[in-house]
Amino acid sequence: MAMIAYKCPHIEVWVVDISEPRIAAWNSPNLPIYEPGLQEIVEQCRGKNLFFSTSVEEKIQECDIIFVSVNTPTKKSGLGSGRAADLKYWELVGRTISKVATSPKIVIEKSTVPVRTAAALDRVLNAQKTTTFVILSNPEFLAEGTAIRDLSSPDRILIGGPQNEEGLDAIAAVFDVYANWVPKEQIITTNLWSSELSKLVANAFLAQRVSSINAISQLCERTGADVSEVSRAIGMDSRIGPKFLQASIGFGGSCFQKDILNLVYLCEQFGLKEVADYWAQVVNMNNHQQEVFTRRMIEAMFNTVSGKKIAVLGFAFKKDTGDVRETPGVKVCELLMEDAAVCSIYDPKVKREDAIWEMEQHGVKCSDKLFQFTESAEEAVKDAHAIVILTEWDVFKTYDYGKFYAMMQKPAFVFDGRNLLDHSALRKVGFEVHAVGKPTIKAAESVNTYVGA
Ligand code: UDX
Repeated sequence: MAMIAYKCPHIEVWVVDISEPRIAAWNSPNLPIYEPGLQEIVEQCRGKNLFFSTSVEEKIQECDIIFVSVNTPTKKSGLGSGRAADLKYWELVGRTISKVATSPKIVIEKSTVPVRTAAALDRVLNAQKTTTFVILSNPEFLAEGTAIRDLSSPDRILIGGPQNEEGLDAIAAVFDVYANWVPKEQIITTNLWSSELSKLVANAFLAQRVSSINAISQLCERTGADVSEVSRAIGMDSRIGPKFLQASIGFGGSCFQKDILNLVYLCEQFGLKEVADYWAQVVNMNNHQQEVFTRRMIEAMFNTVSGKKIAVLGFAFKKDTGDVRETPGVKVCELLMEDAAVCSIYDPKVKREDAIWEMEQHGVKCSDKLFQFTESAEEAVKDAHAIVILTEWDVFKTYDYGKFYAMMQKPAFVFDGRNLLDHSALRKVGFEVHAVGKPTIKAAESVNTYVGA
């Protein structure tokens, strides 16, 4: 919404939410989320044509186009528990709109929703027939950390809607909003269900690439192949392409797992068991990757990490965000703490309370003794047995690892879950380095001796 306000000074944008503290934060100098470049855009538009308010009903009445961007988490209980999207917030918004609207509205699904949500929403909105509602789907493809770049020059904008006169008029109205800055040929219009499904499928395909390369990374570790070399070699095939081939500790984030589970549930609903199993395997592989990585850590440290301090660098699910939803850090720290390791975590943007909240969402209790957050990487590293890189923050590349080595217990280990650091330089310093999809070379041994091959 900030980008629409920024690119379209002639459009008045109101962001409304029932949460007073959240709106107060959006109206303050400290925005409630960290996203590079967002602060500047909000500051330029706020009070001119971008406003944040808790007057939900009043603004529903006044506005012509309503983007619904509420949370659609995976259901935790009841029918479809663990897989289906929970649409309770969606339904609530639909009922509020239907109750208060007195003039025709275009209602847009911005949140990722299961396919055919628009049909359900249509019934909720039009149950009382107070006015005309046209429902469109306009999924968001931005990624966190690069949101401003993704929004200002998107690969494509997708607008789905009913293929009747009212629907096509509504699509044209939303098309005109984006056409203020997006080239027209990059704005695609489709029917509603194609648009809803495309969002789930885009995320499933991206996640599938990560799981595919992560599966290969495990084979590389056994064979002596190097996954970065394999990625480069296959990515140069223009049919495959180089993006999303970075082997890692696994994908996290609020979208990938949720959307795939949603897709799996949808397939099951239509009796497509094999199709459901195929996509479910992308999530299974991701969980497995996190476990394999952590097991490898424990095995390398002589099969026990009990009482050992481990410096965890990064807890966000990717760099340039403080978001920890579904971060692989949860599984890694859970397994380390099960073995009584002390996790000493440093992340430039993550707050301990957010990390604890996420751990608790996954049923993991965090004691003050085993789950610590530090103010600096140095503090985390002091007296640690190992450094584990969980997030690819650029600043982690700039540290003096010679100095870190001197401050640590020996033998000192680095487990690079992002293949971020210069491994041969670390080995020269004296570290034993383990990285994703790379053969392990013990510092003291010849470069030709592969451990675990
Ligand atoms: C994703 C989609 O990219 C975006 O289009 C959609 O709108 C929301 O979901 P996001 O979750 O913000 O965006 O981040 P993304 O960059 O896709 O990364 C997801 C996860 O995959 C991260 O944990 C990232 O570290 C991991 N990843 C990504 C890899 O492990 N390897 C890669 O090569 C790429």
